[in-house]
Amino acid sequence: MLVNTIKEVREQVKAWRKEGLSIGYVPTMGFLHEGHKSLIEKAVSENDRVVVSVFVNPTQFGPNEDFEDYPRDIEKDYAFCTEAGANLVFNPEPEEMYFPDKCTTVNVEGLSKGLCGAKRPVHFGGVCLVVSKFLNIVTPDRAYFGEKDAQQLAIIKRMVRDLSIDVEIIGCPIVRENDGLAKSSRNTYLSEDERKAALVLSRSLKKANEAMENGLRCTKEIKNIIESEINAEPLAKADYIEIVDSETLQPVESVEKNVLVAIAVFIGKTRLIDNFTFRLN
Ligand code: PAF
Repeated sequence: MLVNTIKEVREQVKAWRKEGLSIGYVPTMGFLHEGHKSLIEKAVSENDRVVVSVFVNPTQFGPNEDFEDYPRDIEKDYAFCTEAGANLVFNPEPEEMYFPDKCTTVNVEGLSKGLCGAKRPVHFGGVCLVVSKFLNIVTPDRAYFGEKDAQQLAIIKRMVRDLSIDVEIIGCPIVRENDGLAKSSRNTYLSEDERKAALVLSRSLKKANEAMENGLRCTKEIKNIIESEINAEPLAKADYIEIVDSETLQPVESVEKNVLVAIAVFIGKTRLIDNFTFRLN
């Protein structure tokens, strides 16, 4: 079922609840790929009914970002969701989601400041606002987020905890192309040469991971390994290379606990992100 209004979602959810059914929820901005499929399939395997939202959320894009250009194809997305086992696809217009005179903001301080937040100052406020609204509309038992957006996942978990939202947030592993590139709707922006150059993200992280597996703990040296690899790729320009505590997202000088190694790299004009978590226990 494809619906566009909050009212329709609420009515359907109410009917399912009456039957005692559990509900899983996958938020997306559409142009769905295998990464989204893995989230939907996990939701299907763990819940009686699954809702997917497809909404390119204007509030999480900065003024010079790609909101207008972001790829959209609702017909294809709807078929994709149905095929993956979703029961309801919610595709609202911005006017359905936002009152013109809205005054409420949702900000998770601290966690939103570094990494992507340092480069995209309005981004996580917009993500938190829209995700909290969707969680209020869908009222799922479980909601599924990809680990590729590791900072987003940490922020959403904290928001849900701090606001006592009654939902379990479930992180799902990064899905990659055969050659290692993390799946992303933004990969469609890449030319053939850029697509090859984009492999520098996963390659540089693999090198860092190997060095850490071999005992390297100094984050400056680990970052140097990643930086050299990125600098050797003419079409790539690092936006940030960070190693942070995986829970607080604060930078660390030495790897003494579980850390998130996260990078953002411009390949031509396209900004891609990738990461891995290095666990000591
Ligand atoms: O990860 C995304 O695609 C978006 O940030 C989300 C969670 C759907 C909110 O718009």
